[in-house]
Amino acid sequence: MSGMNESVITEWNEADVALAGESLGLLEGLRTTRAIRRLKPDPVPLSLIRKVCEAGTYAPSGGNRQPWLFVAVSDESKRAKIADLYRDVFDAYIAPAVEAAKDPNYPEVKRKNMRAAMYLAEHLHEAPIHLFVAGWTRRGAPQSQALFPAIQNVLLACRAVGLGASLTTAHRGHGEEIDRLLGLDPEKTPSIALIPIGWPKGRYGTPTRRSIDTCFFVDEVP
Ligand SMILES: Cc1cc2nc3c(=O)[nH]c(=O)nc-3n(C[C@H](O)[C@H](O)[C@H](O)COP(=O)(O)O)c2cc1C
Repeated sequence: MSGMNESVITEWNEADVALAGESLGLLEGLRTTRAIRRLKPDPVPLSLIRKVCEAGTYAPSGGNRQPWLFVAVSDESKRAKIADLYRDVFDAYIAPAVEAAKDPNYPEVKRKNMRAAMYLAEHLHEAPIHLFVAGWTRRGAPQSQALFPAIQNVLLACRAVGLGASLTTAHRGHGEEIDRLLGLDPEKTPSIALIPIGWPKGRYGTPTRRSIDTCFFVDEVP
């Protein structure tokens, strides 16, 4: 199945899941992973979601404590509730950018990114999987820094197996309510990120980034 378009497989068996994404070069995958926010509502096999989460577990963490928990929400009514709460936070967050984008001189790259983020917010309930990454607190504080390497691994693994995904955190504005909906204790294992996952409507591609020439230095910054 390697090299085939994974999204056209309708019946996934164990061997398909085992092979998915195994042939993509690490650096090529990394260079072509961008936020995929336009997703088909078609179902995604949970065994594939488990596989991308397993990739997350290979991440480093302080003291190798591995504080992560991955909660894949497929239940339709839960996703609808999560999407409502997400939108409540996101709409307020994005409002200044929407205002600023009325200026014809507003950079097109930023406008595109804003529109994609707005599309995701509007369609979040349709994403077949809402994957939450949560983690144990340490000395009373969330260990976000221990979770982000795992989160990035999940995004890269989604790229490898052909799934669309993006990193979001806006749900944190209603974090406690959402955590309780997921059976998470907001004091002990708060969720840090919500990764909406589904088959992409568009394509993966090289993300817009400033050149390495602007941020790589040897010995000291001139
Ligand atoms: C810590 C963090 C939080 C983010 N939160 C959100 C979010 O709540 N909603 C959203 O649509 N994108 C969110 N993003 C995604 C960024 O907007 C995205 O990575 C950026 O626009 C680059 O996209 P690209 O990889 O497609 O170029 C977040 C990214 C990071 C690193």
